[in-house]
Formats: sequence, structure tokens, C-alpha cells
Amino acid sequence: MALDRSNPVPNDLSAFWMPFTANRQFKKTPRMFVSADGMYYKTSDGRDVLDGTAGLWCCNAGHNRPKIVEAIRQQAGELDYAPAFQMGHPKAFELATRLRDMAPEPMEHVFFTNSGSESVETALKIAIAYQRAIGQGTRTRLIGRERGYHGVNFGGISVGGIVNNRKFFGSLLTGVDHLPHTHLPAKNAFSRGQPEHGAELADELERIVALHGPETVAAVIVEPMAGSTGVLMPPKGYLQRLREITRKHGILLIFDEVITGFGRLGSSFAADHFDVMPDMITCAKGLTNGVIPMGAVLATKEIHDAFMHGPEEAIELFHGYTYSGNPIASAAGLATLETYKEEGLFERAAELAPYWEDAVHSLRDCPHVIDIRNMGLIAGIELDPIAGAPTKRAFSAFLQAYENDVLIRTTGDIIALSPPLIIEKHHIDTLFGKLADILKGLD
Ligand SMILES: Cc1ncc(COP(=O)(O)O)c(C=O)c1O
Repeated sequence: MALDRSNPVPNDLSAFWMPFTANRQFKKTPRMFVSADGMYYKTSDGRDVLDGTAGLWCCNAGHNRPKIVEAIRQQAGELDYAPAFQMGHPKAFELATRLRDMAPEPMEHVFFTNSGSESVETALKIAIAYQRAIGQGTRTRLIGRERGYHGVNFGGISVGGIVNNRKFFGSLLTGVDHLPHTHLPAKNAFSRGQPEHGAELADELERIVALHGPETVAAVIVEPMAGSTGVLMPPKGYLQRLREITRKHGILLIFDEVITGFGRLGSSFAADHFDVMPDMITCAKGLTNGVIPMGAVLATKEIHDAFMHGPEEAIELFHGYTYSGNPIASAAGLATLETYKEEGLFERAAELAPYWEDAVHSLRDCPHVIDIRNMGLIAGIELDPIAGAPTKRAFSAFLQAYENDVLIRTTGDIIALSPPLIIEKHHIDTLFGKLADILKGLD
């Protein structure tokens, strides 16, 4: 059906089965973005909507950034696609080097994927294959955490701990166990930054390892700061403890940094921010500013080199994607990393963090607010659920925010905010001013 440019909402919405969306509700009252620039989206009805979520935690440099747009244009006209297996092209190597240079020091090798979910699957597979490669073939178990989000593929939902993402999809991977989540509202509500209580929850890993035997466990995967479950900060000392226990038992530690990578907490990666070094880091989203799908797994030399044996003409790792290191994605990635660096966006996030913190905690006395959490340029505002109708109150806040020209995200009854790192103080004032009004008017 032709698109009428004066009213750019297609008149047939039925074919597109939308992801993680209330399809029937949406199609009755569609919400469409038709363009974006800087901190704003433009809606199909001509309004400018302030982006409080960097799209989906991914447009860290804001929208329509000239360097990135130009890099994509040029690359499309120069080399559109090159086979990813047994062939190369320069930009994928350049991007891997740039990524290695900005990553925490032990991360020396980069495996490209096309999304956070694929990065997770890749890291889990590398972990098991690595253990086998070093003669620890009994180590096949994977340990995740309750409330963890690691994308939507089978490995990711198996180690993940979000019930609705798991329960409809059968028996999942076998040999998986979960740490307890770290949400302790009775002790930690309204913490600024890392909460005081909960480091001891990492000791549960000792119990799980003892239950299964350390010689059966390949890896532990956690988000250093859990985003999609509703913004849960790691308690002070928790990540350090996980690192000690995994190291003691020869278990790999994977940080899923799909959200925390690329400046969200004010450092390149959360591993640097918390000064805890995992063995692998998964990333995506901010790698290309969300503009072109791309993800990556960063791995230590030790992991990489364990595969580099046998005849030189033999493939070392039987894994990869048609679009691993795609030329246009690589060009977008290079331009994105340059933009972050030229504009000092990670430092900017760190500088703005105290202002952001005060602004979000100013909502503390608004109706329905039962907890507020923040770090870097991220915040979670937890609302008291309506009895018998969980998620309804937060979803209603989301709809009202959209009507009032701000984009927020909700997960369960939690409002999650993660603006582009180019945000200015006046945008922060607008965002929280409007949110306060919305909360005051909510049922
Ligand atoms: C920590 C984490 N891992 C994995 C993913 C999945 O990424 P994608 O949606 O690109 O597959 C996400 C997405 O939000 C995430 O937050």
C-alpha cells in the first residue's frame, strides 16, 4: 500500500508482528517516529519527542550524527559486502583494533556479531569450547542470575532470569544454574550509585559450585549493572567477590556489557568503572550508536590463544555469522568510536552524572515511587504496582510521557532512563519536570 507522505502512517499495520510490543494496543493507537536529530525524535504527527532512552539504550551519541551518516553513505558506495568467512576487508580489522585499544587491557581479541543476543551466544559457546581446548572438557555448565537479561536466543534466555522471557519456550539449555538477583529494596531503596548491602549474595556461587562440582562449570555470566530488568546496580564489593570465586575455581567470568559498554556509566566499559576484570565482555548497541546492527565479544589473549593450535589451514573456531564484521557496520562503528572520542562523550557522562543523580532523586516524594536507583547516565524509578494489574501503572506513565513529548522506557513497573550522552542540563530538567507532573497525575 502506498505511503501518503503528508501523513506518514501506513494504513495497513497488520503484517508487521512487532517485537516485545503489545501489538493490538499499538495498532489501535500507533506511535510512530519518522525522523530524529540530536536529542529528539520527530513523530508522525509532527511533534519533537525528547529521547530519554537513547532509542533502546543504544544511540549514545544522539541521532543523525554527521560523521556516522557520512561513513555509512561512503562505505555503501565503496564496498557493500564482503564474505565474512575466509575473506577480510580493512575496516573490520581497523574497528577490532580500535575496540581493543579502548577496552580494558586484558581484552585483546574481538569476535564480531550482529546483536547483543548473538554476542551472548558467541561468548557462551567460546567459554565451553575454551574449557575443552585447555583439557577441561567436563566444564560445560553455565551460571547466570535471576532477573538477568542476556538477549532472546536460547543460550541467553537459559542463563537469563526474566521469567516471561523463559517460561513460554520449553526446556531451554540443560546444565544451567542461577545466582540470586541482587535487588534488596528493604535495605537498599533510594541508594545513590552502588548500594551498601548485598555483596554476600555473590557467595551463593560457592554453594552452586559445590552442588555441581567446580570441574563441571565453564562460565558465569552477569550484567555488571543489570539494565533491562529495571536498572539494578551491583552492591558494593559484589562483582569483586564474583571475580574471586570464579578465579579460585577456574571458571570464566563474562560481563554482558550490551548496555553498560560505550560510556553509559561514564567509562568505556563497566569493567573499568568497577575495576573488575572479566575474561570476556559482550557488547553491541552503542558500538555503532545503534545505527547499524553490530555486536562483539571481547576476549583475553589467553582465551584466544587456546584455540590457535593444530594445522594452520584448519578453522580454529566453528562459529560465525554471514554479517560478522559487515563493511557498513564496521564503517559505522569506526565513525561512532571517533565521535565518542572527539566529543569526549564518556567523560561528559561522568561529569553530568551528579546533576542527573540529583534530578532523578528529586522524584522521591512523587506518588507511587517506591525506589530510585542511578549511576552514570542511567536511572530506574520503581513504582508501586496497581493491585492485581502489574505493569499497568508504568505503562500508563510511558503512554502519557509520549503524549507529553518525552520518550521513556518501562519494564514491569519500573521506569528506565538512559539518555544519549549528549544530553544537556536543560533537557534533564525538562525530562524530570514532565515526569514529576505525570507521576502526580497517575492513578
Ligand atoms: C545486557 C544485554 N544483553 C543482551 C541484550 C540483547 O541485545 P539485542 O537486543 O541486540 O539482541 C540486551 C538488550 O537490551 C542487553 O541489555
